[in-house]
Amino acid sequence: MSDSYSLLILPGDGIGPEVMAEVVKVIDWFGANRGMSFDIRHGLVGGAAYDAHGTPLTDETMAEAQAVDAVLLGAVGGPKYDVLDFSVKPERGLLRLRKELDLYANLRPAQCFDALADFSSLKREVVAGLDILIVRELTSGVYFGEPRGIHADGNNPDNEGGRVGINTQRYTSGEIRRVARSAFELARRRNNKVCSMEKANVMESGILWREEVQWVHDNEYPDVDLTHMYADNGAMQLVRNPRQFDVIVTDNLFGDLLSDAAAMLTGSLGMLPSASLGAPMANGRPKAMYEPVHGSAPDIAGQGKANPIACILSFAMALRYSFDEGQAASDLERAVEKVLADGVRTADLMGPDGGTPVSTAEMGDRIVAALSQA
Ligand code: NAI
Ligand code: MG
Repeated sequence: MSDSYSLLILPGDGIGPEVMAEVVKVIDWFGANRGMSFDIRHGLVGGAAYDAHGTPLTDETMAEAQAVDAVLLGAVGGPKYDVLDFSVKPERGLLRLRKELDLYANLRPAQCFDALADFSSLKREVVAGLDILIVRELTSGVYFGEPRGIHADGNNPDNEGGRVGINTQRYTSGEIRRVARSAFELARRRNNKVCSMEKANVMESGILWREEVQWVHDNEYPDVDLTHMYADNGAMQLVRNPRQFDVIVTDNLFGDLLSDAAAMLTGSLGMLPSASLGAPMANGRPKAMYEPVHGSAPDIAGQGKANPIACILSFAMALRYSFDEGQAASDLERAVEKVLADGVRTADLMGPDGGTPVSTAEMGDRIVAALSQA
């Protein structure tokens, strides 16, 4: 008998509720067939919360997010909300969750399912079997560092236009150590291999990054194989030979770019899950939010066309990282793999040869059926 797992489900806007409905089928399956007990709460975020309450995230929902083991989020935003003031835009709900839960480690897997290897922008030989995990620092670095702003550049006669734009890359040793620990912990559950990326050749913050990651390794994770790489070389290596990597840990800016590049090695946006983890809670589980990488896809919302796999694989990450149900997570990933191998495709996964796409709900049903066959 397992513990009870508490989950806050925030479907959000656009295709968010459509893909989340398929995740709920999967959760129900695990509850009914694997003796897991889920304590599920539902809430509103983004435009849906704004429509109901005039704010993209209420204090009550924020308090629930603090109390549960994991938050599962669909997507937020849409053209209807573009006119709103910045302070109540749907994205602010997402940002508030990330900030107040202090989710400093953003996990972006890039996994190539064999049935989709021809979808990659790279050759099948380069990407088949790819399974890497990028850990991006999410709460600090150049997107947050002070000073920042756009200023008049005094009376500098050499500056045509007369203005200067400033952002500051700033990292404390503590910020680096905690995300390094996340990466080493994840590596121990995988292949015990971490590559840390920065630009220690030209940035002091990069020198500190390298030293602190090495410190955490030497003092706490000497069993993990650690290498360092300059991030520009890392970008090249990701495209040249991505399978050389297992866990990559890097800062907020480089991680933003490298994780988007790595995502495209594997095909459709509709396939990409993510997790954001923070510090361990009293029960030992990390603060956590799981969400697909894609947005609310207003162009296909309400048409039953959305691919629910990104959201379903995000729940697989919750099973693994919040609930320590690694076997269940792998079973779910195998079920997705099997359905794809059987040729079941949502519209975003149709190749040039065409075929008949299945609906969002059918894809969910097929994955649940594949779980039952395993
Ligand atoms: P998007 O990810 O929503 O869509 C980009 C393209 O990918 C669209 O053609 C869409 O139809 C397709 N797509 C996305 N997810 C799919 C899925 N599961 N299955 C099939 N096709 C899928 O990004 P876009 O269009 O830039 O943004 C739309 C809205 O979403 C905006 O309001 C934006 O602010 C918001 N957004 C929200 C995010 C979040 O909630 N984390 C992330 C990115 C965008
Ligand atoms: Mg990005």
